[in-house]
Amino acid sequence: MENQKRPESMKRITTQALADAFIEEQVTALRQQIGDKKVLLALSGGVDSSVVAALLIKAVGKQLVSVHVNHGLLRKGEPEQVVDVFRNQLDANLVYVDATDRFLRKLARVCEPEKKRKIIGAEFIRVFNEEARKLEDIRFLAQGTIYPDILESDGVKAHHNVGGLPKKMQLELVEPLKFLYKDEVRVVGEALGLPANMVYRQPFPGPGLGVRCLGAITRDRLEAVRESDAILREEFENNGLAGKVWQYFTAIPDMKTVGVRNDKRAEEWFVIIRAVNTKDAMSATIEKIPYKVLNLITERILKEVKGVCRVVYDITPKPTGTIEWE
Ligand code: XMP
Repeated sequence: MENQKRPESMKRITTQALADAFIEEQVTALRQQIGDKKVLLALSGGVDSSVVAALLIKAVGKQLVSVHVNHGLLRKGEPEQVVDVFRNQLDANLVYVDATDRFLRKLARVCEPEKKRKIIGAEFIRVFNEEARKLEDIRFLAQGTIYPDILESDGVKAHHNVGGLPKKMQLELVEPLKFLYKDEVRVVGEALGLPANMVYRQPFPGPGLGVRCLGAITRDRLEAVRESDAILREEFENNGLAGKVWQYFTAIPDMKTVGVRNDKRAEEWFVIIRAVNTKDAMSATIEKIPYKVLNLITERILKEVKGVCRVVYDITPKPTGTIEWE
């Protein structure tokens, strides 16, 4: 493939000064490529698409139309942060679509993990295409492709992620981060003024909480996953673990357990806590969360999350357990 090799002369972007130079160079190149035309971007709020958005906003302002599809499977506070950062702070041309009902309708009673992933991916493309069709004069499609995506796949960010190219749209691709490694993307994001919790966030799968609300997704259990995940993240922040652990989350099986509530037997769900470290996600080791923190998280989940009466801690390395539960 043409133009898919990182130039040997390119320096590793490790400092703000190098990031600033990269940004300046890209802004000039993007202005030249785009002219006065419009660019479309699927903005998930993940690191790569957020950095692409911020870079394009700097280069071409409102000629960038960002579409944020909320599939209802995002973590607590994420869609709100995308709107706050991009619409309110960066004055972006942002289309926000709350497609929660559509996604949950399609996913109702579907238990099989790969089928869930396919439904989420296909629905995402459908919603994105519908929004794109409402817009006029779009010439370019921006993507958060980064160098590992090119090295690992065939150069298209369809890979493991929800999204992928709307094939019939005939748009010219804009991929300003395609020669950057993840750590460089983060440095550039910081230099562009994006919030640290957006730029340094832990990996989050495209199908989101959909693969952590195990088995068939229901709204009440999905909310319990979202709330327990928010508590876990908050306590990791409060206890200095957030930047140190590679990935941490909660999952809730589609199964009830017997507990005691108000002196009566009650059947409720149980929450699984998972926290792992890895270099490449091919294998992973367990983060030994201090007992005090585990205890605190457990107490909060049992008190604050509706319908949960038990918490367990998964200490399985990969292999044999994958990082996600499904
Ligand atoms: P596993 O569970 O396979 O996960 O050990 C390895 C890494 O990949 C992430 N993951 C996904 N990412 N779409 C994604 O974008 C997916 O369908 C998906 N499934 C797993 C997982 O969170 C971990 O970082």
